[in-house]
Amino acid sequence: MKSVLFIDCCIRREESRSKKLAEHFLANLEKEQGYTIESLCLMDEALTFFSDGFFSQREALLQNGVLQHPRFRYAHQFAKADKIVIAAPFWDLSFPALLKVYIENISVDGITFHADEKGLTGLCKADNMVYFTTRGGIYEGTDMEMGSVYLQAMSKFFGIEQYTCIAAEGLDLGIRPAEEILQEAMRKAEEIAKSF
Ligand SMILES: Cc1cc2nc3c(=O)[nH]c(=O)nc-3n(C[C@H](O)[C@H](O)[C@H](O)COP(=O)(O)O)c2cc1C
Repeated sequence: MKSVLFIDCCIRREESRSKKLAEHFLANLEKEQGYTIESLCLMDEALTFFSDGFFSQREALLQNGVLQHPRFRYAHQFAKADKIVIAAPFWDLSFPALLKVYIENISVDGITFHADEKGLTGLCKADNMVYFTTRGGIYEGTDMEMGSVYLQAMSKFFGIEQYTCIAAEGLDLGIRPAEEILQEAMRKAEEIAKSF
């Protein structure tokens, strides 16, 4: 069985179209069989950004090599998954800050990556990461989309070779029915599920 970690940052929860897209993919993945899906709903976690004591605690733990501290549990969970699935809406040209806070918490030298004089080495087991998002406007092919390009770079940083973004775009423009655009993205998700 391959373990899939589903990182859910769909702030609008059941209203979220990004979540519907990701869930369609996961349902198709289950049909393929051979996958166990572990969901991590970021909105339900007590995730904290780094400042003051929370930052200095981390520095002290890393200096002393205490990588089994509970605060690094998200990093261990991410590092050991066989596949990574992320879902988040497009907000302010990127994704919600909550996902960045999560990334800040999993970026731990010695668990998800290693940096030394030879450079960077990704330490994560996963070979594939897929990102599901929906956008109000259309950004594909412009230089204004900062969410997927960032996640693609992070997947490289973590040592995850394959990265795919499935985006439904222009949902709030009123040019085409949003449901029709979403269905198109779902078809793409079905294709990806066949060879995940
Ligand atoms: C706080 C916030 C920021 C947003 N920023 C953008 C943006 O920069 N560009 C854009 O095209 N749409 C933006 N949108 C619209 C969303 O990308 C769009 O409605 C998306 O489908 C929402 O995803 P969801 O249904 O998964 O919540 C924003 C929406 C919200 C609530």
